Amino acid sequence: MSLSKNQKYRLKFHLMPPKGWMNDPNGLCFYKEVYHVFFQYAPSGPCAYERYWGHYTSPDLVHWKYEGIAIRSDCAWDLNGAFSGCAFTDDGMLELFYTGNVEEEGDYDYINAGRGANVIYVHSEDGVHFSEKKLLLSNKDYPADYTCHVRDPKVWKEGDTYHMVLGGRKKDDKGAILHYVSKDKMQWEFKEEISAEEDFGFMWECPDFFALDGQQVLMCCPQGVAREEYRYQNPHQAGYWLFSAAECEKGVKQQNENVQPIETSRFKELDKGFDFYAPQTFFASDGRRILYGWGGVSEMDKEYCNTPIIEEGWQHSLTVPRELRVVNGTIRQWPVKELEALHYDVVGLTDGVTTVEADAFDLEISFATNTTGEDIAKKETDKILCTEHYCAEKKEIQLSEDISVCWQGGVFILQFLNDSGCGRRVRKAKIDELRNIRILKDVSMLEIYINDGEYVFTTRYYPKVVTQTVLNIKGCDRATLWKMKAMEVDLSNGE
Ligand code: FRU
Repeated sequence: MSLSKNQKYRLKFHLMPPKGWMNDPNGLCFYKEVYHVFFQYAPSGPCAYERYWGHYTSPDLVHWKYEGIAIRSDCAWDLNGAFSGCAFTDDGMLELFYTGNVEEEGDYDYINAGRGANVIYVHSEDGVHFSEKKLLLSNKDYPADYTCHVRDPKVWKEGDTYHMVLGGRKKDDKGAILHYVSKDKMQWEFKEEISAEEDFGFMWECPDFFALDGQQVLMCCPQGVAREEYRYQNPHQAGYWLFSAAECEKGVKQQNENVQPIETSRFKELDKGFDFYAPQTFFASDGRRILYGWGGVSEMDKEYCNTPIIEEGWQHSLTVPRELRVVNGTIRQWPVKELEALHYDVVGLTDGVTTVEADAFDLEISFATNTTGEDIAKKETDKILCTEHYCAEKKEIQLSEDISVCWQGGVFILQFLNDSGCGRRVRKAKIDELRNIRILKDVSMLEIYINDGEYVFTTRYYPKVVTQTVLNIKGCDRATLWKMKAMEVDLSNGE
């Protein structure tokens, strides 16, 4: 397969579509010593609408092979898209569960009528060749108060019971998660709905449910949550709830048998940047819980665009794989250690201006907290001192003339200073103190990890010059920068 030479913004250590369009990560797993990353794929163009499952494999998360299209939308159950889904490997095979999207011809709104949402199953012994498709669930199997928007199965096993969660949109325009159980993975029975009492988006997509560090994590993507100054700044969110084992046992505030309301105030965003959605996790055999997100958002309601890469014939990527841990009631995300194999040429930095000659780098900066020796408790009791003190503590990293990453007075701001964001402007978060920042810059993608991964901001970035960044660091204690080389990606199976 030949790639156009004129692709200035292609990435070096993020998985991208071989050509055309990519969205959600799908079917993530580690099966027979190989990592599998499937993804929503439309090879016919950077804004194309077909949805297949593209397939990458890797022994180590940095050497990749594109295996071709694993699932096409080619049967009556998935005619208009092989939508998102998961992998299940506990029983010795690589088993995939995904949503077959069908749009009937006619005068339909495709919300309440005209859309088929099927759960489809395929399996593989070798991880590359898949069986015939089997239909497991269709619209008639969902509760009557749901629209036709039900999708994105995630399957796991507890004891001798298989579980599946699906995202859904109810007829009263509330998002919810449907929970099914099965003894054989083929016959599924509805168990309960998980939803919020208050308004929290009209549709919840891409659910995930797993145990982590003694807690239970429920992830999903609520669409259309009202925007706030410091939260929910994208039209669609991606985040999670953490529950203790005891809460899960008794059912979170159980009211009636089939409904589990959850508190939206406990929802936490996974990423507060411009370009992050539809994350999925898997369990690597060494015990790590690893997350990949889509490093993009859907086209709807967007104030910003990706014209520079669309002109190159492709759009979107995944995030880097991130290891998840729970620390003090919050998920921390951190780029997996395997990425360090791509480091070369390390430079120690301090405050001031440094020109970095590299299109990809990994920059770690630590900040001394409370530098002037003022006591935080004193600041709390003396509001004037508090403001002045905080103002004195400005910490900032500027990337060329393009971007400012700044913390001051308990607020973190990521701001584009010119049009290198293609319409992206400002993202903010309330963060009490800034201890450290790690910035992964990959040609036209930035992932910014704050305070050991407690907050993450992912964004596209289209600098005029990709090979050079003028860094201006203010207020840092110590900084280290590694230039990064490209992952090896074998695209010879491309189509
Ligand atoms: C999330 C999503 C999923 C769906 C897929 C279709 O980005 O809308 O809910 O399965 O994309 O590509």
